[in-house]
Formats: sequence, structure tokens, C-alpha cells
Amino acid sequence: MGYSVREQVWWVVAIIILLGLKDGSKACLEEEREALLKLKEAFNHPNGSSLPSWNNLNSSGCCSWEGISCDNSTQRVISLLLNYTRAQEFEDINWSLNASYFLPFRQLQTLDLSGNFLSGLLGEIRLDNLQTLYLEDNKLTEVPFLGVSHSDNSKTLEGSLQQSNASLTSLASLRTLSFYKNSLEGSLPQQGGLCKLKNLKVLSLGRNKFEGHLPSCLNNLTSLRVLDLQYNGFEGPFPSSLFHSLKSLRFISLEETYFTGIASLSLFANHSNLQLFSISCSNNPNLKLETENPPFIPSFQLLIFNVIQCTMNEGRNNRSSIPSFLLHQYDLRVLQLGYLNISGSFPNWLLKNNTKLVSFKVGHNFLTGPFELNSTLRFMDMQYFDASSNPINDEIPPHVGSIFPNLLSLNMSSSSLQGGFPASLGDMKQLNSLDLSNNNLSGYLPQEFGKGINDLRILKLSNNNLIGPCLPVGSNFTHLLIVDLSSNNFTGKVREGMINSLELRMLDLSTNQLYGEIPSWIGNFKHLGYLILSQNSMAGPIPKSFCNLAELTYLDLSQNKINGTLPNCLNMPSLRYLHLRSNHFMGSIPSVLAKSSLLLTLDLTKNKFSSQIPRWFESMLNLRVLLLKDNKLEGSIPMEMCKLKNISILDLSQNKLSGGIPHCLNNITFTKKDHMDGTLLGKFFVPWTTRGPVFYFNYTSGDLVHDEYERNSTLYEQQEVNFMSKNRYESYEGKILDFMSGLDLSNNQLTGEIPLEIGYLNNIHTLNMSDNYLTGPIPETFSGLMQIESLDLSYNNLTGHIPFQLTQLYSLSVFSVAHNNLSGKTPDMKNQFSTFDPSCYEGNPFLCGPPLQQKCSSIDNPSGRNIQPHHSEEVGFQDAFLWTFSGAFVVFFLGVITCLYFNSYFYSYK
Ligand SMILES: *[C@@H]1O[C@H](CO)[C@@H](O)[C@H](O)[C@H]1NC(C)=O
Ligand SMILES: *[C@@H]1O[C@H](CO)[C@@H](O)[C@H](O)[C@H]1NC(C)=O
Ligand SMILES: *[C@@H]1O[C@H](CO)[C@@H](O)[C@H](O)[C@H]1NC(C)=O
Ligand SMILES: *[C@@H]1O[C@H](CO)[C@@H](O)[C@H](O)[C@H]1NC(C)=O
Ligand SMILES: *[C@@H]1O[C@H](CO)[C@@H](O)[C@H](O)[C@H]1NC(C)=O
Ligand SMILES: *[C@@H]1O[C@H](CO)[C@@H](O)[C@H](O)[C@H]1NC(C)=O
Ligand SMILES: *[C@@H]1O[C@H](CO)[C@@H](O)[C@H](O)[C@H]1NC(C)=O
Ligand SMILES: *[C@@H]1O[C@H](CO)[C@@H](O)[C@H](O)[C@H]1NC(C)=O
Repeated sequence: MGYSVREQVWWVVAIIILLGLKDGSKACLEEEREALLKLKEAFNHPNGSSLPSWNNLNSSGCCSWEGISCDNSTQRVISLLLNYTRAQEFEDINWSLNASYFLPFRQLQTLDLSGNFLSGLLGEIRLDNLQTLYLEDNKLTEVPFLGVSHSDNSKTLEGSLQQSNASLTSLASLRTLSFYKNSLEGSLPQQGGLCKLKNLKVLSLGRNKFEGHLPSCLNNLTSLRVLDLQYNGFEGPFPSSLFHSLKSLRFISLEETYFTGIASLSLFANHSNLQLFSISCSNNPNLKLETENPPFIPSFQLLIFNVIQCTMNEGRNNRSSIPSFLLHQYDLRVLQLGYLNISGSFPNWLLKNNTKLVSFKVGHNFLTGPFELNSTLRFMDMQYFDASSNPINDEIPPHVGSIFPNLLSLNMSSSSLQGGFPASLGDMKQLNSLDLSNNNLSGYLPQEFGKGINDLRILKLSNNNLIGPCLPVGSNFTHLLIVDLSSNNFTGKVREGMINSLELRMLDLSTNQLYGEIPSWIGNFKHLGYLILSQNSMAGPIPKSFCNLAELTYLDLSQNKINGTLPNCLNMPSLRYLHLRSNHFMGSIPSVLAKSSLLLTLDLTKNKFSSQIPRWFESMLNLRVLLLKDNKLEGSIPMEMCKLKNISILDLSQNKLSGGIPHCLNNITFTKKDHMDGTLLGKFFVPWTTRGPVFYFNYTSGDLVHDEYERNSTLYEQQEVNFMSKNRYESYEGKILDFMSGLDLSNNQLTGEIPLEIGYLNNIHTLNMSDNYLTGPIPETFSGLMQIESLDLSYNNLTGHIPFQLTQLYSLSVFSVAHNNLSGKTPDMKNQFSTFDPSCYEGNPFLCGPPLQQKCSSIDNPSGRNIQPHHSEEVGFQDAFLWTFSGAFVVFFLGVITCLYFNSYFYSYK
């Protein structure tokens, strides 16, 4: 945040110090020197070592100590920059400063205490000359000397007022006051308090927990240039009269407040200095932004206009249009209009009128084509361009690369783009992030693209119709962090174009037509967290080099032709999701997996794994989903499985398992759990950000400054990997996997009786034991399966009657006991059982009663025993019962989303 102005100040300080050295006049007052040493002690409490240059050795020169500058005539300290001084290791120690520490510095003009984990500032600050006070990025919950106090409203209004009246006169010179990013609570006092600071030019209350109405006395702070209220709980009617009074405002930041009513931009028509207006309303539907009514001609030229997710110009069929005052703006640097239901054609004119744009973001609207940019235009400053999620339905202009030669980030995902991938994209030599996913782009990736851009970090082209090699022949990308080329028609072997991107974090090539072996160089990507190669035709074994992939969280190789077994040296302690479904793996289930004790889901379905279910599974205590279906596993189900208490889905079907069903299976609760953590698969950080640009407000010059420093420093951005859109969610019998719990033992060779403990699984949703050699009765305890939706016991040798209590299973929608030796009366045709047809019971010659045609001889016998069926015609239902665990089970759609679009923080204040 705003480092570079700080840097400037720092230079000034440095120059002053240098001048001081030259004069040999860096001595300072003894009184202030002692006060500084005390202050140092406080900052280092209990055992820190900050401020090493503050020591007695150069006792004469405290003006040359770090962070300090003195007046060169009086030798008094005028500036104390103690920002980010307290050691990080003390972050969790509750730390307050007594304001009396600062009393000796009578000429102090600038005090910066930002970033010190400060939870309290006690007593009064009495500093007549103080002009600038930064308390940003601390943990303050109240500042009593400014009337900012949260304790017990009614009583303290008086109390804090007295206090503030006393103290505020002693901060009468204050011009800049920032509490940005603290935890200040409560409402501002309606009189006194901040309103006493008549000379205030910069007031930042942003990112706190203030609530209540803004005091109307703020109207009197007519010198205010910067008013930052963002991310607070301020409520009440939108403070129109405040903004009407504060005509000098340049910078207005209103993101995520709770004001209600109409905010009309016409209020600002005469604010000729207005440069930045920023508002977002993602949690506040009660604030309506009005840009058209009454119409106005602005006297300002905005540099930054930012509106995200607000109800704008309500009452036009929920579709708004680009605010028309923008016709008069020609100096914009940042324009962001996101999630606003804006319709109409893409505003080519806005671009033409504002050739100095640095960032242009109009994502998540209803803008349509034509998307034509005059090929003679040049936007030399444009760095961020985002028109994603609009029905643009046009081609990317072929000259886009020369129109935006310096672009850092291009996002036109989900915009119905057609046509080819323009070769001129290769002219964007600086491009760091390219997202053209979810479009209808076709054709090859041009070679120019591979040759031109070598700074690309994020490449997302998923869900298009691209063909040919998945990276252009001859490309050599060296900085890739995230590559998502899934769901295209790429063919051939995986190209080496990314082989030199050793920092790669995520690679998704799924759902293409790639063949050949998995390249062993993938093992060089030491930081790879997500590798998804599913739904291709890759063959051969998993390369040994995968043993280097110690940071993998998610590995999906499903639906390929990969064979062999897993390399013995695999070591993936972070692995949470392993999906190897539908391949040709063989041998016993590899014991190297025991090292991945964090595994949440393991899908080995449809391979040729043989031998027994290993006992080491008992150490996989985090497992939520275990799918071993359709392999060649044999032997009995080990008791150790019962220790996997967190399992919600266990599928052992279509193997050759024998022996009895363990009684202890009820130790597994089969509770449906958010085994996908909601939808979040994981979070990871990449050393690049799609946010930005960063602007800061230089309060001395009164200008907004574009901060290049920020861009050049390495910012880490959190990326989230999600199970995304529901339509791509794989379902489990039509249910979203996340809501399911189930046990499938079908199609094995299990013998013995069904343990009555199975009936204690009162959270289970589906239970399938069909196609085994189970004998004995259906346990009456099954009436306790209160959540059960699907129960299949067909194709066994079960005998006895069907417990009539099963009619209490109100959730049951699929039921079959077909092809057993059950006898007696079917359950009453009530509740769910009234919906089941005869096929549910077929193949049990001794069953009788509705819906079967066979009538029971003694209808009143509730136990159903000793009832002989009347023979009747076999009903013509053949194989009507087809319910199995069919269909693909887990095909997760992976998407990477950046931090919430509307949370992006792209300017700061200094
Ligand atoms: C403290 O702030 C000054 C400007 O106010 C800046 O130059 C300096 O870099 C900051 N120091 C730290 C450690 O952030
Ligand atoms: C103090 O320093 C400033 C520049 O930092 C200079 O302009 C001014 O003349 C100096 N005053 C004296 C008294 O040396
Ligand atoms: C604000 O100014 C008006 C007019 O100058 C005055 O009547 C009012 O008392 C002031 N309010 C505060 C809280 O200072
Ligand atoms: C901006 O473009 C529109 C449409 O092309 C035009 O009417 C308007 O006058 C232009 N405004 C400026 C300031 O150039
Ligand atoms: C592009 O702009 C140039 C110069 O402004 C103009 O002469 C030309 O007619 C424009 N072309 C199109 C297609 O608008
Ligand atoms: C790819 O780029 C790297 C780094 O710039 C370079 O060392 C390497 O030789 C290049 N490889 C090819 C095949 O051009
Ligand atoms: C694995 O597949 C490859 C390529 O299809 C084949 O050459 C190899 O013999 C197979 N290995 C095993 C162990 O089946
Ligand atoms: C099942 O749980 C019971 C009670 O918690 C415990 O005594 C028993 O050892 C468990 N059985 C297995 C096989 O884990």
C-alpha cells in the first residue's frame, strides 16, 4: 500500500540526514533523545531488537537515527516514522502505547505508527503541531481521545465528548488522519470528536467496524479532500448533504457500506476537483446508485471511476446502461463497472475517448458486440483489460496486440468469443495473465503466440474448440504458474513449451485428445499443487520423476490408459485428492499411499487392482470418499476399515470380495460431510496478482499517482481451486456428491447374514448390498435408517419376511429386494411404499400382497409369517430395476478463481 510515497518521504528524510551529516549538526535535544530511547524500549517489549540505530553510542545524533527527522534550526524532532517497526513475532501480544510517550516532541508534525499490532493508544495525544497521524493497519478498537469509543453508548457519549473536547484542541493542526484497517467499533459521536479537526484534509476510516449514522457535523470539514469510508457498517440514509457540502473532495471511497436510499451522482456535478469515485454494494441491495436522473454535466474529470455490484439506475427492466456522464470524461485511468447488468453494445467510444486508460474492467454485464477497435488506436498505458462474462459474441480484433502493446492482463473469459486466436496476442510482450476460457474459439494456437510472450504466468484457455498441439510448436514459456487448457480438442503428445516453467503450480490438460506417455519432465515442477490430466488417451506408466512432486494436493489422471503401478518412491504428504479412475493400473493397492495421510478422496474405480484391501488403510483417518469399485480385489473386508470414521462414501462394489460383512461398519457414521469443504478444493498462492493497478493519493500534491513500484514488487495472490458450476458437478445417482453418504458392497461374493448393526447407520443415504450371497433375514433394525433414500438388497439369498417397520423410512425413494427368497406379506402400501411397483419384489416366489398380484391367504397376519402366496401371472416387468451405481462418479471441474473480483483493492492513500 502506497509504499512509494513513503519511499519519497524516506528520500526526503535521507537527504535531510545527509545535509545534517555535512553540517555535522545532527545533535538533538537531550530531553527528546531520552524520550526516544524510552519509546524504543516500549516497541521492543518484551525482548525485541527493532530500531538498532537508536543507541547511546552515537548519543549526540538522534536526528540521524532511523525514522527520525529534526527541524534543522531548532534540532527538535519533527517527524517520527515508526511504521512497521514492531517485530512480527509479537503480533499476538496485546500491545498498547501510552500517548504520553510523545509529549516531549513538541514540534512533531508527522507521526506514523502504522503496522505495529497496536491494540490501544492510551491517554491524550497533545501535540499542537501534529499535521499527519497514521495509525493504519493496527488492531485498535477505540480511540477515546477522538471520541471514537465503543464502550456502552449512552454513558460514554458524554464521557468521550469531554475527553475529546479536552484533547482535540491540542490536535488542531491535524490535516491527515488515517485509521485505515483497524478494528474500530461503534458509531462516531454526533458532535465534537473528529468534527473538531477543522483543518482536516484527509480522513480515512476505511476497513474498520464502524456503524451507525455519520455525524452531520462532518459537513463542516469543508477542507476535506479525501474521505475514505470503505468496508464499514455505516448505515442510515446516504449522506447526500455531507457530499453536497464537501465541495473540495477529490477522493471518495464508499465500498461496502450499509447506507440506504439513492446515491445520485448529480450531487457531485460541481465538485470540480473530484478525481476518484469508488463504490461497491455486494452486500447492500438497499443502496441505489443513480447516474441519469437528474441529468448533469460534470465539472470534474475523473481519473478513477469504480462501481461494482450496485443497483444502478433502477426501474429500467433491471438493465442499466453505461452512465452517460462518461461521455464527458476523457482522462480516465481506471474504469471499473462490474456486476451491474449493463446492457447495450460494447462501449468502444469509451476507450477511444480515454486513451490514457491503465485499467478497463467491464466484466459481468450484458454487453454485446460489435467488439471493434480501430486498428490505428494505441493504448500505451493499458495494463488490465477485462470484459469477461458478457455476451459479446464477436471475434477478438486481429490487431489487439498492437492496440494494447503493454497489457499485463487480458480477461475475456465467458464472452461467447468466436473465431481464431489472434496471432497478434504474441505482440503483448508484457502479458502476464491471459484468460480466454469458456468461449467458442477455434483453430490452432498460432506460433507467434508461443514466440512472443515469455513472461506469461497465467494461461487459461479451457472450454473452447482449440485444436492442434496444446502449446504451439517452438514455444518456450519460462514463467508459467497456472495453465488450464482443459476441455478443448488439443491432440498429440504434451508439448514441451512449458518445460522451463519450473515454478508451475497448476496444470490442467483434462478432456482433450492428448496421447503418448505422461512426460517425465512434469516431475521437475517441484511446486506443482494441482495436476489434472483426466479424460485423454495417455498411456504408459506414471513416470518415476513424479517422486519429486512433494507439494501435490490434487492429482487426477482418471480416464486414460495409464498402466503399471505407482512408483515406490512417491512421496506426496500434502495430497488430498487422488483420482486414478478408469485406467489400467494393476497390482495391489500401492502402500506408498499410506504416506498421504491427508487424503480426503481416493478414487481407484475401474482399474485392475488385485489382492486384498490393505490394512494400512486404517491410517487414512481423513478419508471422506473411498471408491474401489470395479477392480479385482479379493479376500474379506478388513475390520480395520471400521476405523475410517470420517468416510461418507464407501464403494467396494464389483470386486471379488468374500467373507462376511464386518459388524463394526456402523463405527463409520456415513454422515454426509462437506468432504469438499463446501466447494473449495484448496487455496494456493501464486507470485503474481491480477489485481491492480495500484494508485495512491499523494496528499501533498493532491494527486493520484500510479504506483509502478507496487507492480514491480512481487505480490502474492491467493488463488482458489473450486468444484465449480453445478452442471459440471458429477452426480451420484442424480445427487450432488457433496450431499451424499453411502455404502456400496454390491457385486461381490459376500456371504453370511447382514449384520444388524448396519441398521444403526442412521445418517446413510444409500445402501447397496445387491448381487452377493447374503443369507438370513433383513434386520428389523433397518427401520432405523432414517435418512435412507435408496436401499438395494436384490440378488442375494435373503430369507424371512420384509420387516413391516420399513414403511417408516420416509425418505426412501428407491427400494429393491428382488431375486431373493423372501416370503410373507409385502410392507403395507403406505408412505413411500405406496410408490414402489412390483419389480421391487420380483423373483421372490413366496412374497405376496400389493403391489404384487399374488394375494396373501391371511391378510391380517401382521408378522407376515406363514402366509402362502396365491399364484398369479408373472407381471411383465423385466429388469425394470436397473438401479446401480452407474455412470461416471467423480469428474470434478476445476476452475481457478482469483480473489473476489469486487474485493480488489487497487488504490491506497498516501
Ligand atoms: C514507513 O513509511 C514511510 C513513509 O511514510 C516509508 O517511506 C517507509 O518505507 C515505511 N516503512 C516501512 C517499514 O514500511
Ligand atoms: C533547513 O532545511 C531545508 C531543506 O531541508 C532548507 O531549505 C532550509 O534552508 C534549512 N534551514 C536552515 C535554517 O538551515
Ligand atoms: C457546523 O457549522 C454550522 C455553521 O457554521 C454551525 O451552526 C454548526 O454548529 C457546526 N456544527 C458543528 C458540529 O460544529
Ligand atoms: C466521447 O465519445 C462520444 C461518442 O463517440 C462523443 O459523443 C463524446 O463527445 C466524446 N467525449 C469526449 C470528451 O471526447
Ligand atoms: C480509424 O481511425 C482513423 C484515425 O482516427 C480514421 O481515419 C479511420 O477512419 C478509422 N477507421 C475506422 C474503421 O473507424
Ligand atoms: C527457453 O528459454 C530459456 C530461458 O530463457 C533458455 O535458457 C532456453 O535455452 C530456451 N529453450 C529453448 C528450447 O529455446
Ligand atoms: C503399458 O502400456 C504401454 C503402452 O501402451 C506398453 O508398452 C506396456 O507394455 C504396458 N505395460 C504394462 C506393464 O502393461
Ligand atoms: C468400533 O467402535 C467401538 C466403540 O467406539 C470400539 O470399541 C471398537 O474397537 C471399534 N471397532 C473397530 C474395529 O474399530
